[in-house]
Amino acid sequence: MRPDIITAPDAEQTADQMAQRVMIYLNNRITQTKYVSIALSGGNTPKLLFQIFSDKYSTQIQWQRIHIYWCDERCVPPDHADSNYGMTKQYLLNHNTIPEQNIHRIEGESDPIAETIRYAKEVNTFVKTIRGLPAFDWILLGMGEDGHTASIFPDQMELLTTEKLTAVAVHPQSGQKRITLTGRIINNADWITFLVTGNNKAELVSKILKQDSLSLNFPAAKVEPNHGRLEWYLDSEAASRI
Ligand code: 6PG
Repeated sequence: MRPDIITAPDAEQTADQMAQRVMIYLNNRITQTKYVSIALSGGNTPKLLFQIFSDKYSTQIQWQRIHIYWCDERCVPPDHADSNYGMTKQYLLNHNTIPEQNIHRIEGESDPIAETIRYAKEVNTFVKTIRGLPAFDWILLGMGEDGHTASIFPDQMELLTTEKLTAVAVHPQSGQKRITLTGRIINNADWITFLVTGNNKAELVSKILKQDSLSLNFPAAKVEPNHGRLEWYLDSEAASRI
């Protein structure tokens, strides 16, 4: 299934395109259900999206009905420079009236194995289920230059198909431990969006979106929702080879 591809000239316009669509989608979902569950990614790319949400759209989003989870977290304390929660707090949470009880952070400071169990239980308890699995209303994904997404790395492809909902991953270069949602729960979401910008990812984006046989070695290529929608938001640099 070829995903929908949305492009814009630069990273800011691409993120703005996504922000507008997310705002409309979330506010529509809220009319259909008691609350909406979303899972965010970390790294650098989402900073621009979160900044745009905070600057332009936050008053138009009914945050009090939106529960925020994370696709992955580095095994560091929440105030550590590497923390995905810390980045989200700086760029999004601090600028929007989101109730504390709606924030379901992964506790990077805890024992990794114990935290995978705790977080999986929290997701299982609060996120609606479809086909017997938690189904997030929206999942924001990024893609690393090595084709990883969430914290599913090319040398840990088994995390795409494991029965577990969450797992401990290890960054192949730094050795940093991470907690991640696994492929089955990611692919069970209603709407999955990639936000990928920059020329450094153009070649890989092209391989994945052209479904090049080599791309199957990259976790981002294995994000194929089993019932939901998949969209890639790309700036002109990231889209330059497709
Ligand atoms: C993380 C993210 C990860 C990210 C990619 C892209 O914890 O790092 O969840 O999957 O989306 O590494 O990161 P950049 O946006 O910084 O390129």
